[in-house]
Amino acid sequence: MLSGIPLFPVQGSTLAPEVDALYFFILAVTAFFAVLVSVLVIYFGFKYRDDTGLKVGAPITGSIPLEIGWSLVPFFIAMGIFVWASVVFFHSVRPPDQTLEIYATGKRWMWRFQHVDGQREINQLHVPVGRPIKVTFTSEDVLHDLYIPVFRTKADAIPGRYSSIWFTPTKTGEFHLFCAEYCGTRHSGMIGWVEVMEPNDFQAWLGGGRPADSPAAAGEKLFTDLVCITCHRDDAQARAPQLKGLFGHTVRLQGGATVTADEAYIRESIVNPQAKIVDGFLPIMPTFQGLVSEEQLLQLIAYVRSLGEATPPAPGGAAAPPGPGKD
Ligand code: CUA
Repeated sequence: MLSGIPLFPVQGSTLAPEVDALYFFILAVTAFFAVLVSVLVIYFGFKYRDDTGLKVGAPITGSIPLEIGWSLVPFFIAMGIFVWASVVFFHSVRPPDQTLEIYATGKRWMWRFQHVDGQREINQLHVPVGRPIKVTFTSEDVLHDLYIPVFRTKADAIPGRYSSIWFTPTKTGEFHLFCAEYCGTRHSGMIGWVEVMEPNDFQAWLGGGRPADSPAAAGEKLFTDLVCITCHRDDAQARAPQLKGLFGHTVRLQGGATVTADEAYIRESIVNPQAKIVDGFLPIMPTFQGLVSEEQLLQLIAYVRSLGEATPPAPGGAAAPPGPGKD
């Protein structure tokens, strides 16, 4: 009907039909009651018009059934919307287990993306169709907001914290991505394109271009350059926790509390090591705040992640770091 007029973005992800169904339901409920009230106002206006100007309104003392009715009907409609929206919300914030990981940072005024294979792009994001993709990102300066309308997904980029969005593209093509949080003079220019490609084309694209270190490899290099290895080693002289097989596991802290080793925990342990001390270790690690950029933090996290997740440390594992330690 309105196909020629781009009033509404196409549905480009598995999430889009869910979000749209809820959106149109709320729109329909709103329209229904708006029309009902307007029509009744006009109809009664004519029907009860007093031509003589002498009639006095009948006294109304209230109606219990009517009052219960107009309380319960909106209540159930509102609760229905609440439950439905919660289901969509949980779906939109919980990515499936196997996702293609992409790291990104927002800064005034651009989006930088990096793929696990190392490819970097600015204000452009290439992704394969039909695969769940998770973008983990943060901001290097002020609040930004990564928004891809066709995927019906958006989240704030917050300095010092990690946010993520996930989507499974269902259509190939080029689609807009935006910054949806006013962030300064050139906020309106902080836009770009998502290119959704056939899996084969995506593989070809990944293989082409300048070879770059993968985030994990760059993180490993940093790990060596910053001499983290002197403490985080896997032999008996280790003065700091082992990192192999750490990612995604539960860590026991001093005092008995526990924490899951996710992106946020690892980031905090690098920039503010005293915040959470692992049980059995001393608070001797210096802070790396200001020494590593947000992009480098993401690389270090990618490196820790590459040391194994969700499996216990295995001797001679495929992802074993080329450190001096052997276990
Ligand atoms: Cu970044 Cu608006």
